[in-house]
Amino acid sequence: MHGATPEAANGHIEYARTLLARATREHAPVTLASSMSAEDMVLIDLVCRDKLAIEVFVLDTGRLHSETLDLIRQARAHHGIPIKVYEPDPDEVEEFLNHHALDAIFDSLDIRKSCCAIRKLGPLRRALKGKGAWITGLRQEQSVTRADLADAEWDAANGLYKFSPLAAWSRTQVWDYIKANGVPYNRLYDQGFASIGCAPCTRAIEPGAHERSGRWWWESPDDRECGLHEASGHQAPAAGQDDVTADRVPESQS
Ligand code: ADX
Ligand code: SF4
Repeated sequence: MHGATPEAANGHIEYARTLLARATREHAPVTLASSMSAEDMVLIDLVCRDKLAIEVFVLDTGRLHSETLDLIRQARAHHGIPIKVYEPDPDEVEEFLNHHALDAIFDSLDIRKSCCAIRKLGPLRRALKGKGAWITGLRQEQSVTRADLADAEWDAANGLYKFSPLAAWSRTQVWDYIKANGVPYNRLYDQGFASIGCAPCTRAIEPGAHERSGRWWWESPDDRECGLHEASGHQAPAAGQDDVTADRVPESQS
């Protein structure tokens, strides 16, 4: 009978802002991991909107699309913020290439994962060093491996807190935010890409296909992770300083 009030309709945005503020207040220094995905662009916009002391970094694997690299430049100019880039250890890349062809990642899960370990996990460790919390653009809807994602948790694998303020957001909510706020986004989304990682391991999808079906498409859905997000399953201890608990999502999202 009644439409949603503007407050209820924006509950997911206010909730994300509250979580970002809480991370900053309780776990500084905080860093935001950005692959320049649509989700990350929303988070960067929220951080800048509230002038939060959260730095932004990209793991430049050396195999990103040129469109993604362009967006780093564009986002720096749009928001007037530095975006830090971490690259893989060149010795490790060289060692990998001495043993495997560049495209050996398609031949075996182990080889693919070792490429991710060198190009993503090593740089991630450096990016997270000395930080109290990191922010990610993960969403529960993205895959079977993310269905139980908590929006705040202790990340045992990396030894710091991990916040995913968009955990309960739908893809539509992400794009509504981008359009409503004039947020820059990766042009590959206009070419049928729905989830964007490294160029060799990402492809466009057919309309209606699952949004991550273009990522590591030759592997089983259970394997389609690079190791950046090992599920820890530990909820963050209750903060006690505001009314946001680690695992609660606003009713407007459910
Ligand atoms: S991945 O693990 O499959 O590659 P996905 O592309 O869905 O992850 O991105 C999920 C979140 O992981 C992003 O929102 C971002 O927080 C982080 N992330 C993924 N890739 C990178 C990257 N190259 N640099 C920084 N953060 C990244
Ligand atoms: Fe290597 Fe592909 Fe992993 Fe990128 S996503 S690090 S190219 S295996």
